[in-house]
Amino acid sequence: MSVKPIKTAIAGLGRAGWNIHGRGILSRRQAGKLDFEVVAVIDPMDERLKEAETTFPGCKGFKDWQTFLKEKNGAEFIVIATQSVDHGPMSMDALKAGLHVMTEKPMAMSVKEADKMIATAKKAKRIMTIHQNRRCDADLHHLVHIIKSGILGKVFMIKQYGSNFARRNDWQTLRKFGGGTLNNTCPHTIDQLLLLLDSPVESVWGDLQACVTAGDAEDHVKVLIRGKNGRVIDMEVTSAYNFSQPHWQVMGTLGSLRSEGDEFVIKHLDPKKLPKLKAVASKAVPDRKYGVIGGEQLEWQETRVKAKDPKFEVNFYDRLYDSIRNKKKLFVTPESVRDQLRVIELARKGTKFN
Ligand SMILES: NC(=O)c1ccc[n+]([C@@H]2O[C@H](COP(=O)([O-])OP(=O)(O)OC[C@H]3O[C@@H](n4cnc5c(N)ncnc54)[C@H](O)[C@@H]3O)[C@@H](O)[C@H]2O)c1
Repeated sequence: MSVKPIKTAIAGLGRAGWNIHGRGILSRRQAGKLDFEVVAVIDPMDERLKEAETTFPGCKGFKDWQTFLKEKNGAEFIVIATQSVDHGPMSMDALKAGLHVMTEKPMAMSVKEADKMIATAKKAKRIMTIHQNRRCDADLHHLVHIIKSGILGKVFMIKQYGSNFARRNDWQTLRKFGGGTLNNTCPHTIDQLLLLLDSPVESVWGDLQACVTAGDAEDHVKVLIRGKNGRVIDMEVTSAYNFSQPHWQVMGTLGSLRSEGDEFVIKHLDPKKLPKLKAVASKAVPDRKYGVIGGEQLEWQETRVKAKDPKFEVNFYDRLYDSIRNKKKLFVTPESVRDQLRVIELARKGTKFN
């Protein structure tokens, strides 16, 4: 099938803009996939513009955003990978200039700003998506598959923990740039967990603390989310705990799952072999014993599977190409990310990081 390359611009040539997007497109091209072509880059740093111009023949570097918006050098699509606080305004400028847009996470600084971006994209009749690349993770889709299979019974609680002890002092630690863990790491975490919640959100509780950071934004986040379906999400992302914790833990009425290294370990019961249990309404318990009256032995089965099973992997750029060129449904719609921003706002409530 013939491929019409998407003429791409990248704004911000840092860790995300260059390492993920610039190099990502370069690797695709080196592997013979010519579906994205970098024709313009925008960054205030001369050496970064030069590096991109040398890497991508025909690519033009712009130091000035407004000049790029006027000239575009043929770009029809832009990746916004600048500081978080700039995502909303730059996305809306680009949409108004006729470009399709993919902004890095976080999509916006508030639900209100996200709504303005969604309205701007609709008016401009352009695609807007958010680089929620962790929505592609194979372990996430494997987990969805396991939960849907019913092996765990009714799933009532899902925990995702991420911890390390990491001091930091770059702009991501400062609120004025949209820094802090809730805007930086948690857009990935909450995005994944909302997929697993599988229900509209009923309530959110959050605790944010600045522990070992040099900046004024939080580096420790605890969030509890309850869905209208009764399922609860327990999420912890901290830079101030120097032990590893299981990344995933899932509790169901017929089984339990947790991640151990790169595996999921599932302990589960066969419902056909599980005798019905009735509560006994007596005033005292025979022989002062705990557990099931008369005793019972549960027949636990243990299954170990590779968490990141490649058959569950999704390729973000493949899906994006199909949406821009072939009008296929967007993999990450801005509306789905709006829900994530709502959770972020609710998690901030009552904390000093409002
Ligand atoms: N999806 C992911 O996995 C992922 C990973 C890393 C970062 N990010 C996101 O990407 C964004 C950028 O983070 P980073 O770590 O790459 O930052 P960074 O500091 O490494 O890079 C920012 C780049 O933007 C340039 N820049 C600053 N202001 C600009 C402007 N007005 N116009 C054009 N360029 C400008 C800087 O010179 C720098 O080259 C953040 O919002 C972050 O949340 C996402």
